[in-house]
Amino acid sequence: MLKPELRLLEENREFKQCERIQRVVWGSQSISAEVMALTQKYGGVVLGAFVKGRLVGFIYAFLARRNGKIIHWSHLMALTPKFRDQGLGLHLKLAHRDLALQQGISSICWTYDPLQSRNASLNLAKLGARVEEYVVDCYGRFPSIIEGGLPSDRFVMNWRIRTREVEKRLSGKKAGAVYPLPPRINMTVINAQGFLENRKIDLDHREPRLLVEIPPDADLMRRKTLALAKRWRLETRKIFLRYLAESYQVEDFVAVNESGRKRYYYVLRRHASRRSTPPERGIGQKL
Ligand SMILES: CC(C)(COP(=O)(O)OP(=O)(O)OC[C@H]1O[C@@H](n2cnc3c(N)ncnc32)[C@H](O)[C@@H]1OP(=O)(O)O)[C@@H](O)C(=O)NCCC(=O)NCCS
Repeated sequence: MLKPELRLLEENREFKQCERIQRVVWGSQSISAEVMALTQKYGGVVLGAFVKGRLVGFIYAFLARRNGKIIHWSHLMALTPKFRDQGLGLHLKLAHRDLALQQGISSICWTYDPLQSRNASLNLAKLGARVEEYVVDCYGRFPSIIEGGLPSDRFVMNWRIRTREVEKRLSGKKAGAVYPLPPRINMTVINAQGFLENRKIDLDHREPRLLVEIPPDADLMRRKTLALAKRWRLETRKIFLRYLAESYQVEDFVAVNESGRKRYYYVLRRHASRRSTPPERGIGQKL
């Protein structure tokens, strides 16, 4: 695992580099150097990851209030493509957690696209953050090359950084065994182009645990076969909205080796008494 130097950014030059990374990663810039400098000064966190002295990624988080509590809302995290999948994202998140704990913060929240399997691995499997909402077209249509023109549906994550549950997860402990594998809500096949597609979706399952498979290559699919990527968006939207409204929670995200390939599943778990309740004013609701 590559070990980066992690530190709070200080100079205008560094915030400008974060603007450049945003343009490389999303094709546009959403947070300016000025706003980053102000956030850093007045209670948020702009944390950089350096490799051999070069800034290769960052986290941008601001102070926010959610359900009456002061939290950090982590709006951006990005690594330049060459530096992904080497653990830097995890290092950045852990350093952010340390800083937030020092500030007396107990929750770090953010959103991510449920069809991005890499982000799901990091957010759920490695960090132990919780899915609290599914927001349809969260940011509207926006000019991101990652989005590829799809509606910007998002999970809202809450990383409750002081909890035993999170500490256990960070020490490498899994939430619980998923073997034998629970029933699948969506049955999939690999199509002639080599992309995963849904063959059958059964919304009538009510077993205590269920699986939802997602493709491993959302970015490539959006570039090569946008119609299929859109279908995935609408089909998984239907699944998550239905099950989250019916007392299921997203418990985990697992990779399973089956017939020589890695398949990725969300694990949904039914809670007898709990309906997932949206926060008092969720991100998708009108101000
Ligand atoms: C999301 C992002 C910040 C993660 O950083 P990262 O350094 O790549 O993440 P890590 O290496 O710490 O963890 C990624 C995990 O996903 C796994 N992974 C890689 N490809 C995967 C795939 N196709 N499907 C599922 N998991 C995958 C990696 O193996 C790794 O897990 P492991 O360490 O157990 O092997 C980075 O990939 C990125 O900049 N993406 C584009 C911007 C973005 O999506 N930002 C976040 C939303 S604002």
